[in-house]
Amino acid sequence: MSILRRHRPFIEFRWTIVLFTLVYALLTIGVCAPDVGGAAGVRKLTILYTSQAKGQIRSCNCTKFRYGGYGREATLVEQVRKEAENVLVVEGGDTLGRAATEQERLKGHTALSAIDAIGYNAMAPGEDEIQLGPSGLKQIGPCRTGFILANLGNNEAGKQSGFEAFAVHKTAGGLRVAVIGLFDPRLLERMPKVPLEVTITDPLEALKLTTPQARKRADFVVVVSHSTKDEAESLARSGLADVVVCTHSESAPILPGEEGNTVNVPIERIGDRILVESRTRLGWSVGRLDITLRSGKITEVSNRLIYLDRTYDESPAIVKLFDDYNAKVKEIALRGQRELKTKIRAVLAERGYGSADRKRECAFIGAVLCKDCHSDAHRKWTESRHSTAFASLEKAGQQFDPDCTPCHTTGARSRGGFLNTKETPELVAVQCEACHGPGKSHTGSPNAAYGKVAGDLCRTCHTDEFNPSFDYEAMWKTIAH
Ligand code: HEC
Ligand code: HEC
Ligand code: HEC
Ligand code: HEC
Repeated sequence: MSILRRHRPFIEFRWTIVLFTLVYALLTIGVCAPDVGGAAGVRKLTILYTSQAKGQIRSCNCTKFRYGGYGREATLVEQVRKEAENVLVVEGGDTLGRAATEQERLKGHTALSAIDAIGYNAMAPGEDEIQLGPSGLKQIGPCRTGFILANLGNNEAGKQSGFEAFAVHKTAGGLRVAVIGLFDPRLLERMPKVPLEVTITDPLEALKLTTPQARKRADFVVVVSHSTKDEAESLARSGLADVVVCTHSESAPILPGEEGNTVNVPIERIGDRILVESRTRLGWSVGRLDITLRSGKITEVSNRLIYLDRTYDESPAIVKLFDDYNAKVKEIALRGQRELKTKIRAVLAERGYGSADRKRECAFIGAVLCKDCHSDAHRKWTESRHSTAFASLEKAGQQFDPDCTPCHTTGARSRGGFLNTKETPELVAVQCEACHGPGKSHTGSPNAAYGKVAGDLCRTCHTDEFNPSFDYEAMWKTIAH
């Protein structure tokens, strides 16, 4: 008994030491105190950034170069969130495009819904959003992902706008990242003057005021600066933020090569700060900046653009958003058709024609009427994909969409050309007259003077922007007639 009694305090003391050691170990490896840093103080932060999507909500899939869309983006973001420790997802502005027509506003609405669904952590405005102003943005649609803008003048609209100077995101790995939004007011000088609802103050002054507040609540500070490169550089030079992402890029796009969908993009190191120019545009790609922090200091950085090609499946939730959008586009198109019909009837009546005379007015006649005299050319054409160009739109359910019809029909850009499937069913697909011009007078008096094709005609549809690999010689060979 006495022996036991003598030993008990020793055993208790030993357990106390074990307990202390355990708690100390847990604290230092960061389990109990996530803000202290990971094992040996190493943390990894992945910043996914996008900008200048301009209302491009989905790829048309015309060629493999037509990248992008929120559906594929959602899949990529989900993958990165699964694999990376600390992820921040930010949008840098000029997201919505002009939002001037009903269809453009619908695109904006769909973009905002997609941004919410993807779960962006913050969104800075660009010229598009500043010009729309808080009330214009509200009309486009609700959006849970808040706009951040630190250099917003303290005016009435600004106060009511729900814009915050910065947002703090706590990542899954427990890192607190503050994102400060800034907008370069000089960008507005180049735009057509519109009355603005908000005033914009000096970005650097605003950054000086905001950073201390942001530092109090976060371990790391990122500035999303919708500005030119020099402006962003001066913000980075101030040394206030850890990373500056410049999201109004005027540099040429960097496209991936034939193989793969990723390109490395250089960053600039200014002291121990980092400046990145976002080269993402039209929703084609997502920028990915990977940062390693050792005891809070940036030690390694890599930056690349990940192009959203067809290897990324579209997220079903976003496809659903797009389907809703497309159904509304169809409604708008049908309404437009009815209005157009009424207008055409009125014009014809004014000129003393009945509506049956409309066909006589049209300069485009359709390929069937060329077949009689140019049967070889016609056969060759039916074998080409030009003859089935409209079927591609029907397959996508977008045969009503004015974003698609100009290149997949005949004469849509000219008077008397394709209007819609009801008024001009004979002018669907890329027919002879899409290249040779309206043929009505030619069939009346056929001669060799008709139908000279301008050298750069193909490029009006096979545009440089979306089809950089277009090779006239090779392409012509497959449709030569
Ligand atoms: C009634 C018969 C007839 C019809 C219909 C007709 N063409 Fe022609 N086309 C001709 C004749 C004849 C020539 C002159 C051939 C020549 O002199 O070399 C010609 C010339 C052309 C040329 C110029 C060829 C060259 O030599 O450079 C083109 C292009 C052309 N036609 C396209 C069309 C298209 C497109 C249509 C339908 C919109 C059409 N043609 C309908 C008879 C016709
Ligand atoms: C009015 C727009 C338009 C013009 C002008 C045009 N194309 Fe096309 N072209 C298309 C469309 C749309 C398709 C795709 C059709 C589909 O499959 O839906 C296409 C497809 C093609 C294809 C098949 C693509 C492939 O990879 O097999 C070739 C080849 C082609 N075009 C060559 C030309 C050439 C050469 C010219 C100029 C002489 C030209 N096109 C002018 C719209 C156009
Ligand atoms: C600027 C002209 C242009 C516009 C606008 C356009 N297309 Fe195309 N599209 C093309 C051309 C050119 C091709 C053929 C490209 C090739 O194969 O080289 C094509 C091909 C396609 C194809 C066939 C792809 C394949 O590989 O089979 C689909 C589908 C398509 N477009 C859908 C659309 C949809 C949907 C829209 C509207 C959202 C649209 N396009 C708008 C020019 C256009
Ligand atoms: C994608 C554009 C495109 C389409 C569609 C197209 N053509 Fe052509 N066509 C051309 C080009 C380009 C030439 C060559 C012109 C040249 O070499 O100067 C040509 C040449 C011709 C010629 C003159 C051939 C010769 O012997 O010199 C005729 C005739 C002709 N096309 C008729 C047609 C008819 C009929 C159709 C429809 C069934 C048609 N084309 C569809 C682009 C087109």
